[in-house]
Amino acid sequence: MKPEIKIMPNAGELARAAATEFVNRAVTAVRANGLFSVALSGGTTPKSVYSLLASDPSLRTQVPWDRIHFFWGDERHVPPDHPDSNYRMAREAMLASVPVPAANIHRIKSEYSDAQSAADEYEQVLRAFFALAPEALPRFDLVLLGMGPDGHTASLFPGTDALGERKRLVVANWVEKFNAFRITMTLRVLNNAASVIFFVSGAEKAAVLREVLEGERGRFPSQLIQPTDGSLLWLVDAAAWPKRERR
Ligand code: 6PG
Repeated sequence: MKPEIKIMPNAGELARAAATEFVNRAVTAVRANGLFSVALSGGTTPKSVYSLLASDPSLRTQVPWDRIHFFWGDERHVPPDHPDSNYRMAREAMLASVPVPAANIHRIKSEYSDAQSAADEYEQVLRAFFALAPEALPRFDLVLLGMGPDGHTASLFPGTDALGERKRLVVANWVEKFNAFRITMTLRVLNNAASVIFFVSGAEKAAVLREVLEGERGRFPSQLIQPTDGSLLWLVDAAAWPKRERR
């Protein structure tokens, strides 16, 4: 399916559009199936979306909080109270101040000293939650993703082993430039979602965004996000989408 691209005038409007997309998908999924499963992303762009969902009365009151199951698409290899923790970011921006049952929050146990154990355990969490047969894949209602200036998404960085993973749902991915592991869902899981939304904000992302969307295929991990049977929406602000010159 061809991706949809929506360009918002600024970062604030981007966050509002993203929060509205979240609410619409949550309401629709809960109406159809009684629950909504979402994989959250880390990074600064999603943070403003989470804050808005929790604090804007017109959005907050529409969200079926007790029917949502929160997962993470990736996590840094740090304990949950660490300033770099994606879980901590989502908790502080949103989860601590909304009526979501603790049992609906499925975080990655990134405090384990062995990142692979954290990945293995999270894979089991997904298998149990989605009641998966051995070869089956989880199907999230929504996967939220950011994109780094190097074209990475989730913790799928250029040139890393996780990009080639064909069996696992979650892996510990060694990222040389950080000299650290990241724990990340694999492409096969992300691409099996019913819907995926990328958030991209800021001028420092403009060059790579253009390459990712219009350049040669297969150069950046973000280009590998192509839902097999789902929708893909790019929510972009004007700074990340400078006016295109005529070709
Ligand atoms: C993380 C992410 C990562 C992030 C991008 C964009 O843990 O860092 O999940 O993939 O979404 O790096 O981050 P920004 O929005 O901060 O640029």
